[in-house]
Amino acid sequence: MAEQGFQAPVTIAMTGASGAQYGLRLIEVLVAAHHEVWVMISKAAHLVIATETEIELPARPVRLAEALTAHTGAAPGQIRCFGREDWMAPVASGSGAPSSMVVCPCSTGTLSAVATGASNNLIERAADVALKERRQLILVPRETPFSAIHLEHMLALTRLGAVILPAAPGFYHRPGTVNDLVDFIVARILNQLGIAHRLMPRWGE
Ligand SMILES: Cc1cc2nc3c(=O)[nH]c(=O)nc-3n(C[C@H](O)[C@H](O)[C@H](O)COP(=O)(O)O)c2cc1C
Repeated sequence: MAEQGFQAPVTIAMTGASGAQYGLRLIEVLVAAHHEVWVMISKAAHLVIATETEIELPARPVRLAEALTAHTGAAPGQIRCFGREDWMAPVASGSGAPSSMVVCPCSTGTLSAVATGASNNLIERAADVALKERRQLILVPRETPFSAIHLEHMLALTRLGAVILPAAPGFYHRPGTVNDLVDFIVARILNQLGIAHRLMPRWGE
């Protein structure tokens, strides 16, 4: 348990790939599972969220945390948000970063920055910290088709220990709604994190 009685914090970064619903649902499910959730949302991700959803999220971290708390029904202090250049945030250092980070959705731009260690913003830095500390890093890219550049970066990151979990839902559970497709991917992320869920049955259940 972390401070205030929450389960261990998980870092969630949303970047500007299509699929904002995946990241928002992931935050919601982690909150329901009583985890502390540390959130970073890139500028492009804000644009994607505004394009793909009805949710209005302010840019300033304090206001963003308030809006996400209201949206997910989180307890006070359960969601913390950090800004693009908040270099003093705990995620910026191996001594403060949580043991798990998920970039969901992950743009090909952020994928490339993480693969090359660019660390030009806090999301990229936090992912770089996860890699250098050999912590859990899960990236959920969404693009189609993939270029050789994207594929090479994904291979490099896999070899570094990151998990590439593409936003490519299956259909064998016969999804009836978009939410079913979203939950397919969120369930796979939770499986990787080792967090129990009932979003959908595991294979063979
Ligand atoms: C509505 C919208 C949809 C986008 N969809 C994708 C996408 O699916 N995959 C992707 O890699 N980039 C996509 N982009 C482009 C990225 O947002 C852009 O490359 C941006 O620089 C990524 O920055 P970030 O990684 O800091 O979030 C999209 C942009 C917009 C506005």
